[in-house]
Amino acid sequence: MKVGIIGAGSMGSGIAQVAATAGCQVIVIDSNPEILAKAENALRKILGRLVEKGKLSQEKINDIFGKIQYAQDINLLAQSDLIIEAIVENLEVKQNVIRQLETLATDQCILATNTSSLSISAIAASCAIPERVVGIHFFNPAPLMPLVEIVPAVQTSNEVLNHAKSVIDSWGKITVLVKDTPGFIVNRVARPFYGEALRIYDESIEGLPKGQDGMATIDWAMKEIGGFKMGPFTLMDFIGNDINYAVTSTVYKSFFYDGRYKPSFTQKALSDAGYLGRKTGKGFYDYSADAPKPQPIEDSELGNRIVNRVLTMLINEAADALFWNIASREAIDLAMTKGVNYPKGLLKWADEIGINNCVTMMDELYEIYKEERYRCSPLLRRMAKENKTFY
Ligand code: NAI
Repeated sequence: MKVGIIGAGSMGSGIAQVAATAGCQVIVIDSNPEILAKAENALRKILGRLVEKGKLSQEKINDIFGKIQYAQDINLLAQSDLIIEAIVENLEVKQNVIRQLETLATDQCILATNTSSLSISAIAASCAIPERVVGIHFFNPAPLMPLVEIVPAVQTSNEVLNHAKSVIDSWGKITVLVKDTPGFIVNRVARPFYGEALRIYDESIEGLPKGQDGMATIDWAMKEIGGFKMGPFTLMDFIGNDINYAVTSTVYKSFFYDGRYKPSFTQKALSDAGYLGRKTGKGFYDYSADAPKPQPIEDSELGNRIVNRVLTMLINEAADALFWNIASREAIDLAMTKGVNYPKGLLKWADEIGINNCVTMMDELYEIYKEERYRCSPLLRRMAKENKTFY
């Protein structure tokens, strides 16, 4: 199979590695020759390390490199069976590129976008044959993260959708089908992990220390009690406050300003200040060598209050995604465990906690704040009433 990839940034080069490892002939196009050279060198290093660790043979590596071509000329993609664009997250730029691709590709070629936040239907609308456009959303780093969200535009034909899904399955990825809605599954359902942690910090709930010790306390609770791989503040510093804030803002706007997704002023200020996280040496935490180490309060009563609140908000969001038929129950749980490493599927977790308890917690929060943010999903409420479980 011939695969074209446009954009040799972190996503494009990762996807190229996945496709070539699966045996496809890959051409990676980028308008910037330095980025192309960087992508090729980075891949050599990554694969070299895999050989050192004994995970790949030198022969396989030669084979992978024999399958990838890095180039600037987009016309080289004319014979592709599938083209995935992974260029800047800008609707107009993506529409222009996909329109250009359409003029040079065969009619059978599937045109896919790796966008995280733009409407697939809006990207497809720029094409003469919009039926062949589909969202194929990988996670970063693409070679390591097993999940891929497959997102049909309203125009996408079933044939193209099924074909795209089976290709990505054959690359060894776990695919989930998602409706073309803001944030798809993962970037929508994960919002409260960041948002509610920020809210708890901003409000400074009873017993929570101020400043970095407060953040460290929330991180400690989510990790040690909640079982998440990383606390929300540590994770936001990894992702970058600019990116995390931009995703939240985009989701908020795309949901027509539903208060549930309202961003945090604390994160906006950090982003405005250039305190972006690890990449700038300072974010929620200070990463300079002589900075004092934040001291979490490792108190299980306080920790449980934090975890229950964030987790219930996550469950409510997952249930609401199911309520709106964004994806199936299994897809929502798979997406969160395979796309962002949650320790458990949220709907499965809801069954363990008890749907009734989740509804009570949501209603208690709503009673206190009277904000849309704490609106209990109608699905959860109905299930509690009927004494049902997700599984
Ligand atoms: P990046 O900024 O690392 O790479 C984008 C590349 O596209 C750059 O190398 C740039 O030179 C190239 N480019 C821009 N316009 C071009 C054009 N007209 N023709 C050819 N090349 C062009 O971006 P990144 O992070 O790889 O993201 C790419 C896409 O993937 C975006 O749509 C993003 O939203 C999405 N995405 C990003 C994830 C992430 O964690 N970084 C995760 C999942 C999706």
